Amino acid sequence: MSMSSITLRINGEQHRFENLDTRTTLLDLCRQHLKITGPKKGCDHGQCGACTILINGERINSCLTLAVMHDGDEITTIEGIGMPESLSDLQQAFKNHDAFQCGYCTPGQICSATALINEVKQNWPSYVTSDLKNPDGLLVQEIAERMSGNICRCSAYPNIIDAISEVLKREVAKQFDTSGSTTPTESSVQGSAVSGIWSPPPSQTQLGNQNNKNTSNTGGRS
Ligand code: FES
Ligand code: FES
Repeated sequence: MSMSSITLRINGEQHRFENLDTRTTLLDLCRQHLKITGPKKGCDHGQCGACTILINGERINSCLTLAVMHDGDEITTIEGIGMPESLSDLQQAFKNHDAFQCGYCTPGQICSATALINEVKQNWPSYVTSDLKNPDGLLVQEIAERMSGNICRCSAYPNIIDAISEVLKREVAKQFDTSGSTTPTESSVQGSAVSGIWSPPPSQTQLGNQNNKNTSNTGGRS
């Protein structure tokens, strides 16, 4: 059995591990070695997203990565995002919108959504993004696509999207304010309200409709 010694920084605290079995996943290290039980083991093979955490601010399925690969990395679990007395905006929004039932997927959903907001702010495209200048970051379809790695067996999806949409809108507006650019247009926020429908059909723009005269420079996909 191969062993290794590493130091990990998790939720702002340094943890030293001597002779760690190199086969230990980051998820097992959190849950079993450190009793950090926010990240959940749903499937243990990258299918459900319940184990999502942040590594250097980016989301990852912790069941699919080995702890020894992250010596020196900054790791954040849901406990590092906020606790009951210090909820993050997204955690509060999930509460306000009743965006869970059993709650098993929720830590992963919130870690994932935390990274999603930063990705949108940095103009990272998703598979359904049709225009990088107006990343459709507030559309239901955009959020649904970006959250597609996080499964909710209770199917709380409409409320999850509502919660994320609320914070995303606020964060994007803040960014526009500080950058001095024009605020997002009305059309960019259309469809951000969810009314019990999980996955509405994509808009014509997102489909890159040929009849739309915007196929030349919008980054639309065919
Ligand atoms: S437990 Fe990691 S993706 Fe399901
Ligand atoms: S709230 Fe139960 S699995 Fe999502």
